[in-house]
Amino acid sequence: MKAQEDADAFTRPRWHFTPPSGWMNDPNGPIRLGGRYHLYYQHNPDAPVWGNLHWGHASSTDLLHWRHEPIALKPDEQGLMFTGSVVRDTDGTAGFGEGALVAVFTQHLDGLERQSLAWSLDGGQTWTPYHDNPVLEAPPGCRDFRDPKVIAHGAGWLMVLAVGSELWWYRSQDLRGWELAAKMSPPVPSPQSIIEVPDLVRVPVNGAGTDVWTLIYSVEPPRGTAKHPRQVRWVPGAVCDAGFAATASQGGGVVDAGPVYYASLTWDLASAEEPVAIGWMDERAAPGRGGSRPWCGRQSIPRRLSLVQRGDALVLRQRPVLPDWTPSARVVITAGSAESVALARGTFAARVTGGGADDRIQATRLRLESGPANTDPASVRLGPTVLEVSSSGVDVRRERADADAGDLMLISDCGSLEVFADAGLGVASVLTPVVGSTGRMVVENDGPDPLVVEVMFGADDAGAEQP
Ligand code: FRU
Repeated sequence: MKAQEDADAFTRPRWHFTPPSGWMNDPNGPIRLGGRYHLYYQHNPDAPVWGNLHWGHASSTDLLHWRHEPIALKPDEQGLMFTGSVVRDTDGTAGFGEGALVAVFTQHLDGLERQSLAWSLDGGQTWTPYHDNPVLEAPPGCRDFRDPKVIAHGAGWLMVLAVGSELWWYRSQDLRGWELAAKMSPPVPSPQSIIEVPDLVRVPVNGAGTDVWTLIYSVEPPRGTAKHPRQVRWVPGAVCDAGFAATASQGGGVVDAGPVYYASLTWDLASAEEPVAIGWMDERAAPGRGGSRPWCGRQSIPRRLSLVQRGDALVLRQRPVLPDWTPSARVVITAGSAESVALARGTFAARVTGGGADDRIQATRLRLESGPANTDPASVRLGPTVLEVSSSGVDVRRERADADAGDLMLISDCGSLEVFADAGLGVASVLTPVVGSTGRMVVENDGPDPLVVEVMFGADDAGAEQP
């Protein structure tokens, strides 16, 4: 047991949320109540494997230190508790009381998927499943019918559901009766790709004082045919009575170029405040994971979303939520040279800034070595036109736009690496070996201007909320 605790203390991420034990996948029903962020999540409390799905629950005031809360939803005779969203029913339209929180989620039973409700009158701590569940059944023969995202719209409610490779839009006055309003086929990598976990959120446009409704959805490879990596996509548009009118000419694309950020959902705050996205990082294929850890699955670093105008198009900017920036190492690297920084801890963030006339980083290469015997370093290369991230045989590439400039941020936390290039315009996440206490980072400056590298380590007490 002692050995297990030591291993756990060393490999538990400090800045990423992990379940106390057992399995975790998608975030569910993110909502902020009175300054506290609530995160529900797909959870098997009994074993670190997918199945037996409950809604786990945690809460935080800063999105970095989390308090574990009692389990919110347990499987019942209507099925397992799959992914969904939470709304505040201010007027009590569903009959559970004014101001009730209502969770709208999928139940999965013997291969059938249907939507159910549960309600809470104590700020999301305890939940009662609606006695007349389910409220929406799949049409006959429809196998994938899940992950409702509900928003208030006009005097009623709007729901988007993932149905195979389509999104279906429903309207309701009371969250119980749902009427189909429209079907849409958003861009997917293959005609039979399966969409999961749609999200709809207002994202502010930098400097414009406006916001744009943005549809975000995850895509799983088709069953039984050529595979593509999992991905999360976004498309800007407008909410309308028939659901959502996408304006793909205004932009859109892949949120994170890596294969490991998935099932992204947002805390939609207020239209002037940037929403915060979080996604599941599937650790089943993590390098060197072994079978010994009592938990599996982490949430990504939370990311503040905004939109940036580039000509006619909008580009999605993601900025990671980190502790206040207090670097413990600072190195200046002259053009054409390389320096190395000791990595005493498995949790750290590195920020590279350009020292030239503009703040664009022309070319740099960073290698993360997990220890002296490391044969499998992770690497990040920011070249004049591309961002490349590699780890344990996974190679990720993303084009840079000509005008992109700004810092390069790496967040490495006991087995995951998230890269935010060009001040968050190019993002790529991968899994890595855990960096040991003898690890180091080698930074090469391949550009014409000096670079500044700062490194901040995670504190020992990070992760759990302070009493
Ligand atoms: C996405 C997903 C959802 C589903 C849930 C089940 O990872 O497959 O579509 O609701 O996980 O755990």
